[in-house]
Amino acid sequence: MAIKKIGVLTSGGDAPGMNAAIRAVVRTGLDYGYEVLGVQDGYLGLHEDRMIELNRHSVSNMLNRGGTFLGTARFPAFKQEEVRRECVEVMRKRGMDALVVIGGDGSYMGAKLLSELGYPCIGVPGTIDNDIAGTVTTIGFDTALSVAVDCIDRLRDTCNSHKRIAVVEVMGRHCGDLAIAAALSCGVEAVLVPEVPWNKETVYQFIQKNVDAGKRHAILVVCENQTDVHQMAHELEQRTGLETRATVLGHIQRGGAPSPQDRVLATRMGAYAVHLLHDGFSGRCIGLQRGELVHNDIIECLETMKHKFHREMYDLVNSLV
Ligand code: ADP
Ligand code: F6P
Repeated sequence: MAIKKIGVLTSGGDAPGMNAAIRAVVRTGLDYGYEVLGVQDGYLGLHEDRMIELNRHSVSNMLNRGGTFLGTARFPAFKQEEVRRECVEVMRKRGMDALVVIGGDGSYMGAKLLSELGYPCIGVPGTIDNDIAGTVTTIGFDTALSVAVDCIDRLRDTCNSHKRIAVVEVMGRHCGDLAIAAALSCGVEAVLVPEVPWNKETVYQFIQKNVDAGKRHAILVVCENQTDVHQMAHELEQRTGLETRATVLGHIQRGGAPSPQDRVLATRMGAYAVHLLHDGFSGRCIGLQRGELVHNDIIECLETMKHKFHREMYDLVNSLV
């Protein structure tokens, strides 16, 4: 069936570059002669039939804007088949023939299930966590990394002045990529991630060794969901006798203008998603491998393929201290 109208939505946690991806979807879609509907607030807006018609002008001045102008949401009810069927009714009523979903692995699962109900869907990896298989990087990761690095550099300045230890929590959900890349970029003393087992005693001894060697400061980067960084700071202070402060970078990492790399990635991926729909593909998700765009089956991406963990990057953090 020839496509006449496509939809685009952003879902899950927002990521810098999502707007650039939407812009590419819209303008590529219009070039094919499609009408393009922007679904507001992810699957929630799909269920509530909240959509806006998008033209070339609607996405002017979006390439460089952080967040997602369509809005995003977490909508757990979408896991229920009945709710998804109601969404399909909405899409039918709207005459929407296919959908581009920009989000993380949860959003991908939603897209796959919609494809199974007869709606062609393509997933575009938008998340700062970089936790998706089949792609070396996700839209938003590079920008979030720049933010984390900027913050940790600032913490280094003040820690060095005061002879203090910093314990810094970065995002990543259950993926250590952001923590490790930030740790390497900032030359920190240690990094704690879910992929590599660690114990407090060894970490504390290592920090103590550095303090004993005369370092004026030490920085410990911790991926979120690993431990209570405030408690860890308290314990480190007790152990080392050096004042220790905990900083949770939090949602700061998700905001701000996308980096040039994220703009390029999002633009390439957004356009590619529409080319795939035009060529009749469905239930696929996009990745970047060796500089080339690729597409994989969403279910394989979620269930069989594994996101590559770069152990050698982790080891470098420790070996270069
Ligand atoms: P992300 O897409 O960034 O991983 P979430 O895991 O929060 O973020 O998922 C975003 C949304 O995708 C959820 O709120 C829900 O609407 C949808 N979703 C997540 N998991 C599923 C699932 N198993 N089945 C159907 N929809 C899902
Ligand atoms: O998936 C992106 C992310 O920022 C994760 O790094 C983090 O665990 C989560 O979303 C935070 O979610 P929320 O915005 O709901 O607090």
